[in-house]
Amino acid sequence: MSRTILCIGDTALENLYAVNLKMYVGTDVIEQTSGKSTTGLLEYLEAAHLIIAEEKIGEENTSKVILEYLKANNRMIPMVVIGDDESTDEYVTRLPSDADLKTIIRAAAKCLGVTATVMAKQVVPDYIFFPLQYFQPSNVCICDIFHKKEDSSDNEQAYTRFFTANQKIEKEKIDNLRKDGVKGLFIPAKNRLTFVNEFTTNVLSTLKDKNASKTDKMAATDCAMHMIAEKIKGSGIDEESIQLAKVSIETMSELAEDRKNDGIAKLLKQLLDNPTSFNYAHCQLISHIACHIIKQMNWGSQEQQEKIVFITFFHDILLKTDELCTFHSEDELLMSSIGNDDRELVISHATQTAQLIRGYPRAPIGADSIIEQHHGSRNGHGFPSAISPLNLSPLAIVFIITESYVHYLLKLSPTNEFDHNNVIGYITETFPKAGKIRSTIEHLSKLKF
Ligand SMILES: [Fe+2]
Ligand SMILES: [Fe+2]
Repeated sequence: MSRTILCIGDTALENLYAVNLKMYVGTDVIEQTSGKSTTGLLEYLEAAHLIIAEEKIGEENTSKVILEYLKANNRMIPMVVIGDDESTDEYVTRLPSDADLKTIIRAAAKCLGVTATVMAKQVVPDYIFFPLQYFQPSNVCICDIFHKKEDSSDNEQAYTRFFTANQKIEKEKIDNLRKDGVKGLFIPAKNRLTFVNEFTTNVLSTLKDKNASKTDKMAATDCAMHMIAEKIKGSGIDEESIQLAKVSIETMSELAEDRKNDGIAKLLKQLLDNPTSFNYAHCQLISHIACHIIKQMNWGSQEQQEKIVFITFFHDILLKTDELCTFHSEDELLMSSIGNDDRELVISHATQTAQLIRGYPRAPIGADSIIEQHHGSRNGHGFPSAISPLNLSPLAIVFIITESYVHYLLKLSPTNEFDHNNVIGYITETFPKAGKIRSTIEHLSKLKF
């Protein structure tokens, strides 16, 4: 499917264009609100096939900002510019500021090579998929929720009503789906926006609720993480994601801090008893353990602990599935059967995430470079065969060693094969015997289990 970036100042108009572009041109639309945010998005978004932008949004010469960026970076993405400037540019189709919807859709279709016959056949999907995390037990369904039989074709009969509007979501039913390997449920397309808004409100209120149980807070942080990842994929980091990330990181910190006297087993049990995504579970454990290690270091301050939780929250946010979060070496990647796009993403996710964090307002100083180094390579590309402590910051070393430990913890604990001392022994052998690494492993070995 082609991908179009839409950059229009008026939100209502932008929504209208987006819906119609999806419907008639069959293109995936990413909405942006300024030239600056569009160029920020283009920094890490490789595939974009069309940009539709207004000539001016507020004081900003939006189309000019984007066009200059494209030229400077030698990226010839076709543009449709709406405004009254009549200058000509290769790759740019200019439409007057009063162009109607039909004209805009036609211009977009032409740029994307979509013919009138293809346009007539485009259908909007009737149901939209949402992962299981979105269906929180005890929440009330705002609309009917459907289950789709695996491998069934995409017709109306493939969907069966699973929960009815205004009904409470039953935990048992969700647990059974999870046991059967079902990844998510479907919402009628027309209810999508209300569903997401309602869900965001629920997640935020659980995160902010001082009396919410630890289990509910974990589930809410897991969901928030997923929602932020989705938002980033669609339109980059916006104000709503920043707010949600802020509250989620505070909750992750609070949960990591809260368990400080309990030992790791209790937190681990809670995570294993109430299944969350691997991404969230490994982040929560890394935060807890890394903060424990940092506290023992003579350089370890409160600020460093906050920084590690921020880094942990974001480090794998661009990885699309839990499976992609489990790769830690070139060999593992070579042995796997994942597709080329996923492979590329795994190799470059540290660099791409660092780039993303560079555009994040008020990120802790240096968080971007530590994210870049989180698999041990200084430029964030791939996995080095051995890490070189001279090239890495002390916080990156703490992160890498802790993550390695957490992977054993999550892999071996469910089968009772995890043994703290064995894993410490293995980690000691695997990593170089440098001072910074040794002290990290020493503190890790004293972790109360
Ligand atoms: Fe990770
Ligand atoms: Fe990673």
